[in-house]
Amino acid sequence: MGAVATTFAAGVLAARKGYAQPTGSVSQLSHIRLGKRDEDRNPLIKDFIPLAGLEDLEFGGWDPYSDDAYAAAMKAGVLDARHIEGIGEELRAIQPMSAVFSPRWVKNLEDTDQVKDGSTHMDNAESLMEDIDRFRAEKQVDRLVTVWCGSTEAYEDPSEVHLDLASFEQGLKNNDSAITPSQVYAYACLKMGVPFANGAPNLTVDIPAMLELAEQEGVPIAGKDFKTGQTLMKTMIAPGLKSRMLGINGWFSTNILGNRDGEVLDDPESFRSKEVSKLGVLEHILQPDVYPDLYGDIYHKVRINYYPPKGDDKEGWDHIDIFGWLGYPMQIKVDFLCKDSILAAPIVLDLALFMDLAARAGKTGIQEWLSFYFKSPQHAEGIYPENDLFIQLTKLKNNLRHMMGEDLITHLGTEYYDEG
Ligand SMILES: NC(=O)c1ccc[n+]([C@@H]2O[C@H](COP(=O)([O-])OP(=O)(O)OC[C@H]3O[C@@H](n4cnc5c(N)ncnc54)[C@H](O)[C@@H]3O)[C@@H](O)[C@H]2O)c1
Repeated sequence: MGAVATTFAAGVLAARKGYAQPTGSVSQLSHIRLGKRDEDRNPLIKDFIPLAGLEDLEFGGWDPYSDDAYAAAMKAGVLDARHIEGIGEELRAIQPMSAVFSPRWVKNLEDTDQVKDGSTHMDNAESLMEDIDRFRAEKQVDRLVTVWCGSTEAYEDPSEVHLDLASFEQGLKNNDSAITPSQVYAYACLKMGVPFANGAPNLTVDIPAMLELAEQEGVPIAGKDFKTGQTLMKTMIAPGLKSRMLGINGWFSTNILGNRDGEVLDDPESFRSKEVSKLGVLEHILQPDVYPDLYGDIYHKVRINYYPPKGDDKEGWDHIDIFGWLGYPMQIKVDFLCKDSILAAPIVLDLALFMDLAARAGKTGIQEWLSFYFKSPQHAEGIYPENDLFIQLTKLKNNLRHMMGEDLITHLGTEYYDEG
């Protein structure tokens, strides 16, 4: 029930009532070209693919604070009261269920008022499964999807308990201290056959035990860390510079934000999770091993600073030192005054609809075709993640074409087949 989750639910409810457009949602607004360019077939994705409709959705969630979605949205301060009032009744009806939570993993959240008190992680996982069953029955929904919009947990490398499912289940029963709350949720969801997409940078489903569980239960997973704000910009600009073979010496990214996410990230351990997921992006796009002269020696620094007056209106600065012909230096400065949750909400919608589609299409395990939405896309072992936003979009659309038995658009072949 944080800023992202409530902005997402409010936006869908508002769109459903015709108050607003779901701007930023590829599933709702993007067209997809089919066949040759002279065929003039360019439907909306949502008309091409049998996705669940906005009017079919029900919302639920867990939170260690008992505020309903209306109160939480007002506190988050992302949307103006005038946007919230028209859907106030629907938002008030979204009451969070009590959370699996531990201050060991998320600091800076105080006075929580609804936390499950099972004596083991396994007890808590079972309680989550009961919640899922109850939600399914009460709302009379056919299918469920989880998108993790909870706080960023402290960073820790995977340990023994994460390496296979048997050890993980033993760890749930033994209350192993390396198991995080988000992993207890992921376990419960996957056991219940509910696809799980991770919007935070934690290693929630990004551990071997969860991959094993996802395959065993035949459930799709995806992650991690919604690609919004500064990283979205980075994955637009870096491929452009690389496509022109312009060199980069340094990339300094810093931002100030004042929402609860910023407060949590003020804790160095939670920031470490974010830093790891943000830093990898340039490495994979620029391929310094292939282009050592252009990208082999980049000083890449990422900073996040909690600054309460900014609220959810983040300001992100990028200072990029580039070089061109004969090594002449140039600079690019970006000052992005963005609204994090406004950029994240459509991602939650698209992930919910596409993960549901993936499940119906019988896809299991990591959904790499949804890399488009993540800062640190989960990928199969032995290959590198695809971070270039434009390749990611092509991959997403080609997967949709493939699912529907249409020709892929490969950029190869005749002029008729390129994306144009
Ligand atoms: N907004 C963005 O652009 C963006 C981008 C990438 C990733 N994210 C990630 O998405 C997540 C949500 O961001 P936000 O701005 O909504 O943050 P937020 O602080 O407003 O919301 C997080 C919510 O999670 C709750 N929470 C914490 N631990 C929980 C637990 N164990 N179980 C259930 N609920 C729990 C908190 O009480 C809070 O209500 C964060 O992890 C953030 O890093 C956000």
